Amino acid sequence: MRKVLVLSGPNLHRLGKRQPEIYGHLTLAQVHDRLAAEARQLGVSVECRQSNHEGELVDWIGSAGDQGFSGIVINPGAYTHTSYALFDALLAAGVPAVEVHLSNPEAREPFRRRSRTAPACIGKVAGFGDLSYVLGLRGLLARLEPTQ
Ligand code: DQA
Repeated sequence: MRKVLVLSGPNLHRLGKRQPEIYGHLTLAQVHDRLAAEARQLGVSVECRQSNHEGELVDWIGSAGDQGFSGIVINPGAYTHTSYALFDALLAAGVPAVEVHLSNPEAREPFRRRSRTAPACIGKVAGFGDLSYVLGLRGLLARLEPTQ
């Protein structure tokens, strides 16, 4: 069965408690559960990981292909706006990635309007809460070769 790596970056472990008016009331575990249910419907599996550490995210992206993942869905959190290291890691990953955001960063503070990481991804979904992860997964799968 095809498997997809789902990564969430800094502060996303606090979903549910963190600014619920922006990020909603679901915990990250609930977001992951909903995504896993959708993945089952689509006939794929997801492995969901979260880290507050840039280097750990870089390591996970870099080893995704070797670990048999067909692609990556990533919410880089605030590293979206700062991280050339994640940009380079995604460029070199050898598997496609889709960037997702719960909120719509472009409708928020000016510093959130630029994504450093999206240019290394095949697409981006933002502003739909936990559904952004689901839509990101669907978009990724639509772009993968049938046999991949
Ligand atoms: C976020 C948007 C980022 O700007 C922010 O730093 C986050 C969450 C989102 O999912 O909406 O941590 O990636």
